[in-house]
Amino acid sequence: MCGIVGYVGQKQALEVVVAGLRRLEYRGYDSAGVAVIADGTLAVRKRAGKLVNLETLLGSDPMPDSTTGIGHTRWATHGGPTDRNAHPHVSEDGRVAVIHNGIIENFALLRAELEAIGVTLSSDTDSEVAAHLLSAELVRTDGDLPEAMRRVCRRLEGAFTLLAIDRATPDLVVGARRNSPLVVGVGDGENFLASDVAAFIEHTREALELGQDQVVAITPDAVVVTDFDGQPVDATVFHVDWDASAAEKGGYDLFMLKEIAEQPKAVADSLRGRITAGHRLQLDEMRIDESVLREVSKVVVIACGTAAHAGMVAKYAIEHWTRIPVEVELASEFRYRDPIVGPDSLVIAISQSGETMDTLMALRHAKSQGARTLAICNTVGSTIPRESDAVLYTYAGPEVAVASTKAFLTQIVAAYLIGLYLGQVRGTMFEDEIRRILDELADMPRRVDLVLDTTEPVRALARELVAAPSVLFLGRHVGYPVALEGALKLKELAYMHAEGFAAGELKHGPIALIEDGVPVVVVVPSPRGRAVLHDKIMSNVQEVRARGAVVIAIAEEGDEAVAAFADHIIRIPAVPTLMQPLVATVPLQVFACEMATARGLDVDQPRNLAKSVTVE
Ligand code: AGP
Repeated sequence: MCGIVGYVGQKQALEVVVAGLRRLEYRGYDSAGVAVIADGTLAVRKRAGKLVNLETLLGSDPMPDSTTGIGHTRWATHGGPTDRNAHPHVSEDGRVAVIHNGIIENFALLRAELEAIGVTLSSDTDSEVAAHLLSAELVRTDGDLPEAMRRVCRRLEGAFTLLAIDRATPDLVVGARRNSPLVVGVGDGENFLASDVAAFIEHTREALELGQDQVVAITPDAVVVTDFDGQPVDATVFHVDWDASAAEKGGYDLFMLKEIAEQPKAVADSLRGRITAGHRLQLDEMRIDESVLREVSKVVVIACGTAAHAGMVAKYAIEHWTRIPVEVELASEFRYRDPIVGPDSLVIAISQSGETMDTLMALRHAKSQGARTLAICNTVGSTIPRESDAVLYTYAGPEVAVASTKAFLTQIVAAYLIGLYLGQVRGTMFEDEIRRILDELADMPRRVDLVLDTTEPVRALARELVAAPSVLFLGRHVGYPVALEGALKLKELAYMHAEGFAAGELKHGPIALIEDGVPVVVVVPSPRGRAVLHDKIMSNVQEVRARGAVVIAIAEEGDEAVAAFADHIIRIPAVPTLMQPLVATVPLQVFACEMATARGLDVDQPRNLAKSVTVE
């Protein structure tokens, strides 16, 4: 997510803002910029890359002294990470500077409207439209920046935190938020705006949390909050008792815990703007012609680790919806097995970082065989999407912890959208079917939230099993890749032996591993989906229980059959079969995280691992 900082007061704004951006670096970004008001003019400096690039520019091209300023670190969504796409964006008349965090869903319409009246836009971003709209409203409101902001916000759709300064009104910074965070730091003769408190807690620990659809105007001695219609709002003041390091994690002890908690928002953001009001798919951003999709004879997923598990989950859905065969290939194996791919193959490369060398080399091989390539990626402008024919980004925001969590859920969501799009384009799905599934997906953030509210039993269980030498994971159908993912989390975080199996495979060897006290986590399919899957896994549970296993069942609310055979039951919401991975995975993430914590290990940076494996 982007980092946002605004300041007005007695200090040098540039110093306060740049220091604040440094505090927000953990959020991940690919460009940075600042703007200040000095002597009735706007001074703006911005650069692609890390803050050091901006600071080098500021050294060679210094800003004037000023006590009013805004700053931004950008995590690219619309428009690559370049100088011209970096924020702040300035209105054509040079009057207003704006910074933005989020996605303005109706930006294309607004861009067209601005171009139609002769405005020249200078970037590829959605954010820039806000600068031009604000300057037009400033004229209409006779320079009333808060009112101009309210009028603009009423026209925007999507998720946004906006900050703006007007060269004609120094000592004023105006902010607004919808579906994106904005907090106020309340100082003595100075005030701050930021995407999170980490940016200003070295100056003040008194803060205001803004609510949905609110506009805030800060001057050195006042903070005025209204709703988008101009009605005054009493914002709640709170005291920040986190230290700076904890503030970077949003108050969580670990980035992984923060990112597990961000999963409902990550799923919602990855759906945002892709489902129309009429509940139809809108994937214009994918640049593969529908006629090409109609000719696809097979889909090949190439990925590594967690991303490969997401591909395995997607296989069940895409084959069910489109009747197109889906092969899921470990990228590191793909190009060495002389794969059969060609112009009628759609190769989907799934990668959070977009830089995994195994996946990149597999992608290049697929392209050399003439295949159409599509990336599912969380990092805009990274190598894998750049080298793919098309890309569907997951908007999970930066994933800092090495162990992938929110990326996994959003990779599944993105792959499902592609599967539904294939079904829609090829006519293998009825519109009402697609609509129903889109509604199910749209309800998943709420369901994941429900799981997050009930994680204490999972944590307690992890602490109880802290000395276990190994844990086995069983699943069937889409629960099988979930079992693999649960095992991977435990391996990479707690450094313990863990193995995931297709439950039906037990009797073909792995059951020899079962003896007294062996913990076995079972991802239980919904009894409402395919009853046979549920019945079969109940048999598997009895087989391992009879041999002394300690059975931990991940089972949906209302599934009482499991109670007779499980030593522990972790309940998840009852959801449609293909949606279960989005809720069943969360307890397994928490289990592994807690196990590693109980073992005193470095959860966010486990030994021997890198967040992005850029070597083969
Ligand atoms: C998962 O927790 C690991 N971090 C690892 O398996 C990761 O998923 C894999 O290296 C792929 O990374 P990517 O998604 O950035 O390509």
